[in-house]
Amino acid sequence: GDTHYYTFNVQMTNVTRLCVTKSIPTVNGKFPGPKLVVREGDRLVVKVHNHINYNVSFHWHGVRQLRNGWADGPSYITQCPIQGGQSYTYDFTITGQRGTLWWHAHFSWLRVHLYGPLVILPKRAEGYPFPRPYKEVPILFGEWFNGDTEAIINQALQTGGGPNVSDAYTFNGLPGPTYNCSAQDTYKLKVQPGRTYMLRLINSALNDELFFAIANHTLTVVEADANYVKPFTVQTLVISPGQTMNVLLTTAPNPASPAYAMAISPYTNTQGTFDNTTAAAVLEYAPTPAAAARSLPLPALPLYNDTGAVTNFSRNFRSLASAQYPARVPLAVDRHLLFTVGLGTDPCPSNQTCQGPNGTKFAASINNNSFFRPRSALLEAHYQRRYAGVLLANFPTTPPHPFNYTGTPPNNTFVQHGTRVVPLRFNTSVELVLQGTSIQGAESHPLHLHGYDFFVVGQGFGNFDPVNDPPTYNLADPVERNTISVPTAGWVAIRFFADNPGVWLMHCHFDVHLSWGLSMAWLVNDGPLPNQKMLPPPSDLPKC
Ligand code: C2O
Repeated sequence: GDTHYYTFNVQMTNVTRLCVTKSIPTVNGKFPGPKLVVREGDRLVVKVHNHINYNVSFHWHGVRQLRNGWADGPSYITQCPIQGGQSYTYDFTITGQRGTLWWHAHFSWLRVHLYGPLVILPKRAEGYPFPRPYKEVPILFGEWFNGDTEAIINQALQTGGGPNVSDAYTFNGLPGPTYNCSAQDTYKLKVQPGRTYMLRLINSALNDELFFAIANHTLTVVEADANYVKPFTVQTLVISPGQTMNVLLTTAPNPASPAYAMAISPYTNTQGTFDNTTAAAVLEYAPTPAAAARSLPLPALPLYNDTGAVTNFSRNFRSLASAQYPARVPLAVDRHLLFTVGLGTDPCPSNQTCQGPNGTKFAASINNNSFFRPRSALLEAHYQRRYAGVLLANFPTTPPHPFNYTGTPPNNTFVQHGTRVVPLRFNTSVELVLQGTSIQGAESHPLHLHGYDFFVVGQGFGNFDPVNDPPTYNLADPVERNTISVPTAGWVAIRFFADNPGVWLMHCHFDVHLSWGLSMAWLVNDGPLPNQKMLPPPSDLPKC
């Protein structure tokens, strides 16, 4: 493969949206950040210089980083953050993956501003398993806050209530004509009639799953999280934070209108605590002035709480499972695990009033453990086999409260806190059932696993039934991805081979839930062979 050298200068840049000018961190002055285009088998060398007065680190979301957690990026998990004035070089090779992924900051809520596409083209001789599109266009969905995002997260953490919602959703950083003072900031996708385009969709929003549709056009899904799927065609799709999706869009041969609106709106289940606005962009066959863009009819989108629409959409995903792209699903399972995933609470300190349920503070947990961020990087501790004070390997592997997850919340929703990890022997085949719990109304949790893709073998509503649910699993062509939404008051079962040694974070990709502790880490041990062991750390690895 080729080697691509990039320089990321993290700097403060003035950006104006919705008539509000803010100084925000950017990569090389760009918002959203630069698009990286590579091929399967290529090596990336990304030199990051941090010029801001704040820690940062970068994650290459979905890149498996085989034996090379040093380049994965989550702060305090695989590296200490890059402090202001410091530099670090991410050096990694894309092995056995092609499709749309993305990169984002992995410290606090910095990814609200620091994100961009990572396009991995197939090997030169390989091509796509579908007709080659006329053009390919990345579209990043995001969120814009007029206020200071650091103040917003601090408010949520300190008062224990929900955070302020964003002021707009964005297409490639642009809120578009449905918001005040924003028609001039409208994303336009210029197209020709009668052609097929591939949209590389990325949901980089902080805290919302999104519906997406284009008026009078259908979308054919061909890839999810950089894995090909059996193509299926829909009017509306749903995409969770962290997920990516390639869709084919065939334009009208004789369009009736010079332009059509594209729109995104949230799927949230709980009204009032989320931004319930709709953002629009333009599919443009002929030049469309801002005023005309404002009056384009929006495509019909499901209601914010239309769980049925979400379920019907997610049922369509099947991996291609072809001779060239086989689905290597673990058929025998070495370790069965059940994790409850959801919100819980902390007691309110006596000198404070708290805005969470019944005067408590919101927290979030997996099997009742709210992840406590360590002070130094877990991966280094593991590599040096120095666990004292850093790792506590006693993660609860079964849920502590035997309650009915769809019914009344348990009396005691208090969580315990700790830096707890689950150790795995190299190449263990894991089945993990993620059971959603719910207090304060139901909501789904997009769970993202670092370092791996996993197969989504089953999902359903209510309580997971260990006797009757496993026989319904799809072990033939389940979709393979890196982020899956644990449905509202339901469960999802995933399988993977733990064949990538290192320390790998798994967390809810809603930043507010991540901040509240909805995460854990897997500690995957080295295998016996030299090529089954972690690589040594790079010499410029940041210090805490
Ligand atoms: Cu895209 Cu740990 O995140």
